[in-house]
Amino acid sequence: MTTLPSSGITIVIFGGGGDLAERKLLPALYNLFVDGLLPERFAIVGAGRTPVSDVAYRRFAREGVERHSRRPIDDVRWPAFASSLSFVAVDLTHPTGFASLGARLDTVEHARSLEGHRIYYLAVPPSMIEPAVLGLARARFVVPADSRRAAQERPCARLIVEKPIGHGLESARRINDTIASVFEERDIFRIDHYLGKETVQNILVLRFANSFLEPLFNHKYVDHVQITVAETEGVGTRAWYYEQAGALRDMVQNHLLQLLTLVAMEPPFSLDAEAVRDEKLQVIRSLRPIERTEVDACTVRAQYAGGVLSGEPVLGYLGEHGVAPDSRTETYVALHVAIDNWRWAGVPFFLRTGKRLARRASEISVHLKGVPPILFNRRPARTLDANVLTLRLQPDEGFALGISSKAPGSRLDIRPVEMDFEYAREFGGSSPEAYERLLLDVIAGDATLFMRRDSVEASWRFITPILEHWDAAAPAPLPPYVAGSWGPPEAQRFPLRPL
Ligand code: BG6
Repeated sequence: MTTLPSSGITIVIFGGGGDLAERKLLPALYNLFVDGLLPERFAIVGAGRTPVSDVAYRRFAREGVERHSRRPIDDVRWPAFASSLSFVAVDLTHPTGFASLGARLDTVEHARSLEGHRIYYLAVPPSMIEPAVLGLARARFVVPADSRRAAQERPCARLIVEKPIGHGLESARRINDTIASVFEERDIFRIDHYLGKETVQNILVLRFANSFLEPLFNHKYVDHVQITVAETEGVGTRAWYYEQAGALRDMVQNHLLQLLTLVAMEPPFSLDAEAVRDEKLQVIRSLRPIERTEVDACTVRAQYAGGVLSGEPVLGYLGEHGVAPDSRTETYVALHVAIDNWRWAGVPFFLRTGKRLARRASEISVHLKGVPPILFNRRPARTLDANVLTLRLQPDEGFALGISSKAPGSRLDIRPVEMDFEYAREFGGSSPEAYERLLLDVIAGDATLFMRRDSVEASWRFITPILEHWDAAAPAPLPPYVAGSWGPPEAQRFPLRPL
């Protein structure tokens, strides 16, 4: 891993005037700045279609920080951060679209004594990834791969790409090929922001830093595993994107499969990025393919109908702005998957995610096998609850272990109780946001928490037959679920319970 020179960096955000920049990227950069974690000299250049002045962009950033930053604005520090921000209009689809960006970068870097070490952040829709990368190459912002050896002295150029990369296996491959024709793999950072969450990073620590846990993680002790990412939000203002994606592409192909790899992977031989990512890849490769004939049995998809959330009526998906009245985009998906390897043979993994569910909760629960029906577990009418390890990823971050215990008294009364660890109680304070950690890792050149090309493509290889089967199905409306519920009745065939 190569850390970018501490002398300074320029961060160029394509989609710099968009939702992600406002809600996540600019607040994350502000927090890194306040924590003194950005290099001494830096510049942040927003690039987007609609021209705005630098003054207006700084106002936009300030509003984003005010609304979404984990810490409030410090009026003493803000001016220094704001002065690093500027904006330039760029048409990614136009052959000369990058000229204005080049001129602006020259001016900014000269003014701030920066040497042109750059991070290009693509916060743009998947269809814009290739035009952006090819534009960077055409404008000679990146030294072409074949002449790089001779140009080792040239400034660094790193690329951050947001998910989803592609629409299916074929387009993912094409995009990855295009990116690889311009950037070397070690300079490509495919972001899955779930991997930057503290609780997600803690999965490996829990498994491999506690001697009593790891021996349980296999088919001998585990009955099944549930992975849930439930949201209360609807599609909001992102129908333009979500209509093309749906829950399987938006959440399962990346976030949920990445969570699955962390729960199921073998211990890597080191914490080196490649060693960790090699083991994660093995899990995805071991997923039993869901053949077309099995898709209906192994998956449930549905779409939210109107309902009530937090006491407020909310629209159904079909009534949302920008959604086609006959849309068949799924906003809920549940899957039954199997990992065909020695450790997990025969252990079902149930994955579910959905928008407009009853509660915002991301959780992994590992359900252990019950004790034999002897001694305390003899009465068929009152079988003991099996032990469950619950990793609460968000909110109420923590970890709980459900156990059986004798309630005090003269009778033998066995009750389920919980041993519980809460991040907030134990460590206090507010944890860094996922994007803070991930941006810092890009600066440090550490790709451990980023998706490697082979892993992205292996995930698509698993997901694509499901998408193809759904596409080929008769065009009937999707089953609905009431907004504010835990999903469609169809999902009750899986053991997924309300959280
Ligand atoms: C994004 C998805 O990757 O993750 C969104 O595109 C989703 O649809 C979001 O709402 C959820 O992230 P978080 O961090 O709020 O759980």
